[in-house]
Amino acid sequence: MLKNISCGSLRSEDIGKSVTLAGWVHRRRDHGNLIFIDLRDREGLVQVVFNPELEEKSHDIAQQLRNEWVIQVSGEVSARPEGTVNSDMKSGEIEVYASELTVLNQSLTPPFYVNEDVSVDENIRLKYRYVDLRRESMKDALIARHKVVKYIRDFLDSQEFLEIETPILIKSTPEGARDHIVPSRLYPGNFYALPQSPQQLKQLLMVAGFEKYFQIARCFRDEDSRADRQPEFTQLDLEMSFVTQEDVLSLTEDLFSGLLESLFPDKKFLKPFPRLTYDQSMSDYGTDKPDLRFDLKMADLGEAALKTGFNVFHNVIENQGIVKGFAAPGCGEFTRGQIDELTNFVKERGASGLIAIGINGVEDSFESLDMDKVRSNIARFLTPENVKDFADLTGAKDGDLVLIVAGDTKSTNAALASLRHEMGSRLDLTDTDMMHFAFITDFPLFEWNLDEQRWDASHHAFCMPKAGYEKFLSEAPGKVIAQSYDLVCNGLEMASGSIRIHDRKMQEDVFAVLGYTKEEVSERFAQILDAFEYGAPPHGGIAPGIDRLIMVLMNKESIRDVIAFPKTQSQMDPLFGAPSMVEESQLEELHLEVVGIDIEEIN
Ligand code: AMO
Repeated sequence: MLKNISCGSLRSEDIGKSVTLAGWVHRRRDHGNLIFIDLRDREGLVQVVFNPELEEKSHDIAQQLRNEWVIQVSGEVSARPEGTVNSDMKSGEIEVYASELTVLNQSLTPPFYVNEDVSVDENIRLKYRYVDLRRESMKDALIARHKVVKYIRDFLDSQEFLEIETPILIKSTPEGARDHIVPSRLYPGNFYALPQSPQQLKQLLMVAGFEKYFQIARCFRDEDSRADRQPEFTQLDLEMSFVTQEDVLSLTEDLFSGLLESLFPDKKFLKPFPRLTYDQSMSDYGTDKPDLRFDLKMADLGEAALKTGFNVFHNVIENQGIVKGFAAPGCGEFTRGQIDELTNFVKERGASGLIAIGINGVEDSFESLDMDKVRSNIARFLTPENVKDFADLTGAKDGDLVLIVAGDTKSTNAALASLRHEMGSRLDLTDTDMMHFAFITDFPLFEWNLDEQRWDASHHAFCMPKAGYEKFLSEAPGKVIAQSYDLVCNGLEMASGSIRIHDRKMQEDVFAVLGYTKEEVSERFAQILDAFEYGAPPHGGIAPGIDRLIMVLMNKESIRDVIAFPKTQSQMDPLFGAPSMVEESQLEELHLEVVGIDIEEIN
């Protein structure tokens, strides 16, 4: 090795040692006589001092050094002189007096500072990702990722799980997104699909008798990127035979709580993880992935709304819509401008408007409510009794603000859930040290796709109906509750899973509800249906998203910040320049022709 110890690992116990270090020039300070270098390697920084009186040649070379040059330094570890200890640096009690310096490589001036946490355009960061990854927060995220995955492997190994790889070139394994497809050279006109998840493969492994499987699996979904979504991402995919829903949830809880206790002892969480049914979650929070770090629970205000003179409420309810809201504590004095801003916020998220009622002037009780002090954009339609009704239902006190949306169920819930989240962060209720895990259970098996007038699987097609609900499969699919569950944390879906169907007939019934013809079923799903006829055990599993988990653990805003080489929001890789055109000869070999696009324009 060109080094015998890491820069960042040196401490006062090493004083007196002769060391050889190698790393990158993080910062150079030239004090004329003395030159100081912060030398960086993967473990961190150490200060190296070049003193011409000690070794003139090294001091001369050190004058030439620039940030990000790669050097090798030999010298002696010494205590820093009194008054120069740097408590911000882990190795801040010591420094290394250099006796030898070799430049291993030079560096161009980097496109952005590695030694300062400044914000840099993401395209530039991704184009120079090898520089970006040198920044401390990026390095920390990838080190944490390694530790988390190692913990997961060790934990599951201790629980007798086997890690088994499954193919990347496969056939469509639908999870509700578009497939990435790969043309086959040997079978012109035929394509592989990259797995959206190893769902069917892990079920086949259960049929094969492996009983407990896991994999740190790459999944590919051609869908728009978002802060918590990448077209290529990683799941901990796991599956178990002979289990109930309770077994899977308890294993998941043990895994996540053990991981936090071992690796992130400063993080807080509740154990047992709270549980909510899907219906409860939608009703209380308007979403199936609530941020439970704060309360701000929603209430159905339909009946109270009908007692007001505000016609919009009446119309919405006549048209089977809902009126729903929650109280924002201490916001009763919000100004017109602030309310307008919140109104635009919900409008951008599909609501037609926002009703705000600032509950002020309650004095001792609502009996003495001073309506002149109540601030509302619908004040003239409200009696003191109406205000009291809304306050009672939402739990609003004097000085609070009731925020109400009226409209169809789906868009009202969606807009209110975003607003609740926004108020949670504006009111500083989102403690970043808290990981508020919860299991959401009892999802509907199907959801109605209004645009395409058909049933979609809420989770995927392989979820087992809850006992007693099978009978609704043919007559009322919307009523079927599945044995499926999500793990959510701080407003994000962290994991999803279910007990699976293992019976051919029931699986065919589910495909029928989803509108697949017999031919489509046998073309796409013959493998799993056939397997069910060869002794398929009852089984179930779950798949936590690794990228999202690390993102929350490291308090990052985007999963791109916890993936070494992610794609941009627009699915580009600026480093390699992917996607890109291929040689004409490659297309010919694949019997492919690119037609109908203006290549100049795309590039
Ligand atoms: P699902 O599609 O819900 O379930 O995915 C499971 C978990 O994977 C993560 N995830 C993503 N992370 C980053 N980018 C994406 N595009 C992305 N999509 C999903 C989330 C999510 O909770 N086969 C089933 C699991 C099962 O039933 O066992 C599945 O893939 O954290």
